[in-house]
Amino acid sequence: MTDSFEKYDLPVPRYTSYPTVPYWSGALPTDVWLENVRRVLAEPATAWSLYIHVPFCESQCTFCGCNNIISRSHDRESPYVEHVLKEWALYRAAAPQLIGRTLRHVHVGGGSPTYLTPENFRRLLTPILQVVQKDQREFEGAIEVDPRTTSLEKLTTYRALGFNRVSIGIQDFEPEVQRLVNRMQPYEMTADINRLARELGFTGVNFDLIYGLPKQSAESFRRTAEQTVAMRPDRIALYSFALVPWIKRQHRIFKDEDLPRKAVKWELYRIARSIFLSAGYVEVGMDHFALPTDSLAEALRQGRLHRNFMGYTNQRTDLVLGLGMSSISETPWSFHQNEKDLIKYSVEIDAGKIPTLRGHMLTEDDRHRREQILKLMTTFRVSFVSPEEAAAAREFLTEMIQDGFVGMNEQEMWLTATGRPFLRIACLFFDQRLRDKQPEGRLFSQAV
Ligand SMILES: C[S@@+](CC[C@H](N)C(=O)[O-])C[C@H]1O[C@@H](n2cnc3c(N)ncnc32)[C@H](O)[C@@H]1O
Ligand code: SF4
Repeated sequence: MTDSFEKYDLPVPRYTSYPTVPYWSGALPTDVWLENVRRVLAEPATAWSLYIHVPFCESQCTFCGCNNIISRSHDRESPYVEHVLKEWALYRAAAPQLIGRTLRHVHVGGGSPTYLTPENFRRLLTPILQVVQKDQREFEGAIEVDPRTTSLEKLTTYRALGFNRVSIGIQDFEPEVQRLVNRMQPYEMTADINRLARELGFTGVNFDLIYGLPKQSAESFRRTAEQTVAMRPDRIALYSFALVPWIKRQHRIFKDEDLPRKAVKWELYRIARSIFLSAGYVEVGMDHFALPTDSLAEALRQGRLHRNFMGYTNQRTDLVLGLGMSSISETPWSFHQNEKDLIKYSVEIDAGKIPTLRGHMLTEDDRHRREQILKLMTTFRVSFVSPEEAAAAREFLTEMIQDGFVGMNEQEMWLTATGRPFLRIACLFFDQRLRDKQPEGRLFSQAV
């Protein structure tokens, strides 16, 4: 297995989209994008999802790879809420059918949505949630929660607005690790938020953990995993630390000797995974575990697990609309991203424009490859559409087959139990754009 770390430790995308963002064509005029939105909404059965990005955090966790802005003063908070509401008004004017179509999923992410005061959170969400048609049976309202900036009042506000799932950022419970990543978050603080969320009637609680952080050891991460299952979250995201110092300045402070070596990092994953499985969790996709009663595990059983920019979800919708700085949207034929710079985003909105940064129209070939990658990412298995595709896969994946990581016959290919951690590598077979042209410079984190 140690050799496999070397051999398969390649920089590869996490495949929350295909094509991946660096391979988008770039140009997508706003009017073409809006035409796409109207086209998908023209179908009365269309259901949609809404993502709202809140970029602010009060302090910088040094491991973080998110699109965020550090601001202790909160002076940009109210103007930002105004801008997102203006963006929403622009979409309502351009695509009035939004209001009549079923909204399945709202996800507020960041940065830290809990940075907003309860009043600002209400001001942002009320005008939206009051007018949309929420799915009567399956509506899910999820919010990313940083316990360090959360209170009973904030959680009560989310619940009153109809949110039913919280995703709690933890990463690791060890004080030494927390100190090195600038995120002091005592166990009791997380336990309190978990208890309050349950008492308030949130039906889903997710925990986020990361393996591969400085000073994590097999022994320490075992404790973190055991402390995690003791609180019985419905879902656990176990992310591999994506170390990208050439993109994120804060990653440059880590000392090599503090970071677990590849084999140790792999051991951390195995320990946590085995603790979660023994505690009754089911492995869902690449980095998620869920209780059998959770909607993600149910979606896996029913073959409708999905993956998009928000990660794994229990439902696919034809439209994902992203509001706020850097947010990504998608239709069956296209992707669209908002300006990533707060000032540019705000200036565009003030000028009455959708703040398009870039986009991509999918070709027929892109759409096929997107579906194949999605199948692999959600079921660890995919059927070939032709003998040629099967033959090409056999050739490209020869080594993974010989190493026992990928199984294959004439009809389909699958990841074996030992091969699952190398899922992203197997997806490379379908990623024609990356295979045709290696990215300029370093873009993706390592696979292991
Ligand atoms: C936007 S944050 C969650 C909400 C909130 N800001 C917090 O930290 O509690 C989303 C999650 O992404 C994960 N994450 C951030 N940077 C990462 C990195 N470099 N590698 C792996 N996971 C990362 C963390 O698990 C984090 O909880
Ligand atoms: S992990 Fe969360 S709180 Fe920490 S810097 Fe990133 S977005 Fe902000």
